[in-house]
Amino acid sequence: MASTPLSELISLKGRKALVTGAASGIGRSVSERFAEAGASLILVDINEVGLESVASSIRERYGAQVEVKKVDLSKKREIDGLWSGLKVSAPDILVNNAGVYEFRDFLDVDEDFLERTLEVNLKSAFYMCQHMVGVRGNRGGVIVNVSSIEAVLHLVKGLTHYGVSKIGLVALSRALAREYGEKGFRVNAVMPGGIHTPGTDKVRNEAIKKLQLGFFLTGMSFISRIPLKRLGEPDEVARAILFLASDLASYVNGAVLIVDGGYLTD
Ligand SMILES: NC(=O)c1ccc[n+]([C@@H]2O[C@H](COP(=O)([O-])OP(=O)(O)OC[C@H]3O[C@@H](n4cnc5c(N)ncnc54)[C@H](O)[C@@H]3O)[C@@H](O)[C@H]2O)c1
Repeated sequence: MASTPLSELISLKGRKALVTGAASGIGRSVSERFAEAGASLILVDINEVGLESVASSIRERYGAQVEVKKVDLSKKREIDGLWSGLKVSAPDILVNNAGVYEFRDFLDVDEDFLERTLEVNLKSAFYMCQHMVGVRGNRGGVIVNVSSIEAVLHLVKGLTHYGVSKIGLVALSRALAREYGEKGFRVNAVMPGGIHTPGTDKVRNEAIKKLQLGFFLTGMSFISRIPLKRLGEPDEVARAILFLASDLASYVNGAVLIVDGGYLTD
């Protein structure tokens, strides 16, 4: 029998959430929905100007308490520095969303490029989780890692390195869910499909030029394979992440929530 009111289950009042990649796209939408649900925020990104603009719009719109931290998540020492300042008031919720997805042909991926992709997309989340679990200890917490359907279905040439980084996030989420559930951690992943963000706009134009992917990426070939016949909006991913972060998902642990309009049914 339902006992807790729905409004309480979805509320993040009294909780602090750290969101990476908060200056743009999905991360920005997650930050906005979290603020609306009553959370205080620590917004992390390498783009300081973007962060300040997101923070001031959230403060104005929701009256939320928002701190911004400029961090290059590809650098472990910057991640360590971020958490050394968070020891006294560690977040209750961590969303590892920052990511890069530059297209490059498999045969042209060199060591620097592969390393950078893995650093931003996978290693940063690994270290962020290590800090979160270490600092929170028996108080537990909630972690959501932003993977991609590219982790399990190779959508288009030029993204092999990206898929490799994103499948690692699934392994990370499931391992931590299993190992730290007893300490009160819930760790889940989301797998977005094609979402219309500033990041996808930028890479799409480059990929069309570099890899002659025009037909696929300009829309119809990709969109015709999506049962909902459209790309997703960042807020549609943010709502799924809000669900996982909130007490609505109190018994959801080690799950991978696909948010792709049905693409993976193909
Ligand atoms: N948009 C999609 O179609 C889609 C699909 C599946 C998964 N995803 C994943 O969702 C996440 C967000 O994607 P998006 O489309 O909103 O991207 P976006 O490019 O619009 O935003 C990504 C943010 O990450 C930040 N970032 C990049 N490198 C960083 C670094 N070294 N340190 C700190 N911050 C850094 C950027 O500054 C930017 O603000 C990514 O992890 C992406 O892989 C996106």
